[in-house]
Amino acid sequence: MDARDIRSAYLQFYAARGHHLIDRADLVPRDDPTTLFNGSGMQQLLPYLLGTEHPAGTRLTDSQPCVRVQDIEEVGDNRHTTFFEMLGNWSLGDYFKSEQIPWFWEFLTEVVHLDPSRIYVSCFSGDETNHIPKDTESADIWADLFARAGIDNARVDLGTEEHGGHVGNGGARIAFYGGKNWWCRAGAAEAMPVGEPGGPDSEVFYLYPDISHDPAYGEQCHQNCDCGRYIELGNSVFMQYVRTDDGFGPLPRRNVDYGGGLERIAAAAIDSPDVFRSSLLWPIVEQVQTLTGKSYDTHTRSMRVVVDHLRGAVFLAVDGVRPSNKEQGYVMRRLVRRAIRFAFDLGVQENFLQKIVPTIAHLYSDAYPEVTERLDDVVAALVKEEKAFRQTLRRGLRELIRMSDQVVSGDELFVLYDTYGFPVELSVEEAHANSISVSEQWRTEFDARMRAQRERSRAANKMHL
Ligand code: SER
Repeated sequence: MDARDIRSAYLQFYAARGHHLIDRADLVPRDDPTTLFNGSGMQQLLPYLLGTEHPAGTRLTDSQPCVRVQDIEEVGDNRHTTFFEMLGNWSLGDYFKSEQIPWFWEFLTEVVHLDPSRIYVSCFSGDETNHIPKDTESADIWADLFARAGIDNARVDLGTEEHGGHVGNGGARIAFYGGKNWWCRAGAAEAMPVGEPGGPDSEVFYLYPDISHDPAYGEQCHQNCDCGRYIELGNSVFMQYVRTDDGFGPLPRRNVDYGGGLERIAAAAIDSPDVFRSSLLWPIVEQVQTLTGKSYDTHTRSMRVVVDHLRGAVFLAVDGVRPSNKEQGYVMRRLVRRAIRFAFDLGVQENFLQKIVPTIAHLYSDAYPEVTERLDDVVAALVKEEKAFRQTLRRGLRELIRMSDQVVSGDELFVLYDTYGFPVELSVEEAHANSISVSEQWRTEFDARMRAQRERSRAANKMHL
């Protein structure tokens, strides 16, 4: 099954279980100034998870394009991408753990045909301070599913992540963690504002036994180890709590909020730990190989960055974002310019977005028709940014290399930003890549110059009024 088949099989699977297929949300959330991008399927469902009736009922499903820019520096490994599709299903006070967990198991093992003996899971170990119990109910459901499949079902309590790294899971199928198995938009229970929903979750991982554990990530391996042996495929959040003034209270209804990574499930289906080998990314990699005459096997990281960032930029353009110097536009500019810079290192010195953007769009023509409908505008926006940046790229890079015998300060980074349009993070990365030292206070120095410039232009605007 390729990624497109998995997407439609998933939606059909949940439709057959009474779920209504909802439209995806735009990448830029409406009426929510707290976040730049939709980073998860539940974002558009927040009012319903809090208790409002959804017009389509209590069982919903979709596939949601997501952008998570906190992963930008991690792009280059086999599984992190700034853009990805999240398969989602929700129960708004309808079914709960005893349906959700067996359904997901059935989907993975009987529809996608993953090897059941390579599936590992995690559950919430409880939070004594906030009186939230250990989730033995989910663990019992998993244990039963494993037992029926003739698979060992040992449990281990790993508490904190550090502890997990110290002792490892000893091969246990079901691992309990604390904060790692609590899901809320704020990232951690302590960071949740009053009124914010959250809950314990149960994650599913796929084991790649041929990858050896890397002790740089902890002495021993376990479900949440970052060495890449276990790759998370999906997460069922049992959203039943809300933050109150003095702790946590119950939400009006017990909800399920499931989100799974389409590309990761598709990679598992072809038994590859590398999401870039999945059918939604590989055709783009192939085109980059053709354009550069270089091989993915020897230029893996740079090609992953180019492919991931351009795919993200295409979707942002489809949803109306345009490169600029602030908020979503700045992130988009960073993605495009970073992709061009990495492609430049691969030897692409001519404009190439005109060629690659249609390849990306074509991969989504069936699932998201708006991608092909808006293709001309998307190509025009990206090509315009490419032209603007390429003119200054060579000069900017030369300028940076010229500074190689000194420590580059935030002031100098500001000049690169102001004159050549180099996003500051890109300059810092470029400097590191060329072993050029950067002042430890670069961010403060840069921000001070930025503020001064803003004040100057504000004063100038006032004079013109
Ligand atoms: N909201 C959860 C997540 O983003 C599950 O959908 O992982």
